[in-house]
Amino acid sequence: MPLVNSCGSKGKLVLTTLLICAVILELAYCQKDAKEQRTQPGVKVKPTKPKAEKTTNKGPRVITTKPKVKAPRAAQRQNLLTQVVNRGKFKKVGETISVPAGDTLELRCRGKPVQWGVPRYLEEDDDGRLKIVQNERYGALTLVNTTGADTGEYTCYPMYCEDTDCRKEYDKAVKVFVFFPDPQELFVPSSDYYEVIQLRTNWPTVLPCQVTSPEAKVTLHREYPPAEVAVDGTEISFSVRRGFTIHRPRPYHAGALFCVASLGNLRQSSTKYMLIYVNYPMAPPAPVIQASSSSVTVGENLRVSCTVMGELDVLIDFAWEYPGQEIGRPLYTQDSVSPVAGGAGRQQSQSILLVDEVRDVDRGTYTCTAQNLQGSKSVSTTVKVVPKAKPKKP
Ligand SMILES: *[C@@H]1O[C@H](CO)[C@@H](O)[C@H](O)[C@H]1NC(C)=O
Repeated sequence: MPLVNSCGSKGKLVLTTLLICAVILELAYCQKDAKEQRTQPGVKVKPTKPKAEKTTNKGPRVITTKPKVKAPRAAQRQNLLTQVVNRGKFKKVGETISVPAGDTLELRCRGKPVQWGVPRYLEEDDDGRLKIVQNERYGALTLVNTTGADTGEYTCYPMYCEDTDCRKEYDKAVKVFVFFPDPQELFVPSSDYYEVIQLRTNWPTVLPCQVTSPEAKVTLHREYPPAEVAVDGTEISFSVRRGFTIHRPRPYHAGALFCVASLGNLRQSSTKYMLIYVNYPMAPPAPVIQASSSSVTVGENLRVSCTVMGELDVLIDFAWEYPGQEIGRPLYTQDSVSPVAGGAGRQQSQSILLVDEVRDVDRGTYTCTAQNLQGSKSVSTTVKVVPKAKPKKP
């Protein structure tokens, strides 16, 4: 099945390949790819670096506040985080704040020390706009020359320290979602023309289409046939911070979708999302390993098979470990998939490891690891190698 491999490798889908996948793909062809990205269902190329254009504000004036004596409780926690607005005034932050693009974002978080979490691309692309300083009683985060692309979640983690050993107190983290409304860009810009997202049977799918302004009205659209997708709040819901969520993906959700945002006279479309349906297996595979013989004479051939009975259209990946591996002994494998006769909806996947003309180094443990989207399992068998009987001298 060469098509499986043509579905691309991690993070590097080529448009043509993608289209082949999107069009031809019925259910399972892109599973190989899917597995590689299982921890991160959205295939996303790095977002654009926002351009710093506007002039910066004056530097912050340092004002110290009285420290609270009591330890923070859940209700008080948000008080840990404040926004420094113009001229050194403080403002409590709610769940979201808006800072006009171009302005400076300045946050303070009480604690000694604290750590900050920022939107991913800011972490990756340090262009000198983000400054984090730890003061006596608080940490300060300053982001200058902001753009709509800075929109996202900013988190303060108080640190718990014993001597010099500090760790984040995740349960005490304070988050604020910051919008940077940009009069020209309703969507957080992306360098991708499209983004591939897997619709997994057992997992909600999120189409981020992040807006820069909480006031923007956002709708979801299908490219072909062109239509607005109904957002009923149950099957599909929308949140201005998370985007659209498809709660229980079905094959009919697949296809090219995009979001449209409107605010005032402005109406803009988001990046395209290519939704690909992935048939998710119910359980990890249960491989069975068998050697053609547990004791082989030098010079004979050995076959070790690894067999998985599983659901139809669920791709199994096999990996082998064998004794000759370390010295680079080249072995080869034959992989096959065949339907199980009479077994409705079942298929047999098999990988056979072939060892030609066994040598002494081939003695030992053969391990097969079978993997599907739900997990992997390894099984082993041991093979003995016996020397050739010496031909008797006449
Ligand atoms: C912010 O923008 C101003 C004006 O374009 C520029 O002079 C300054 O270097 C920028 N600051 C940073 C940290 O990028």
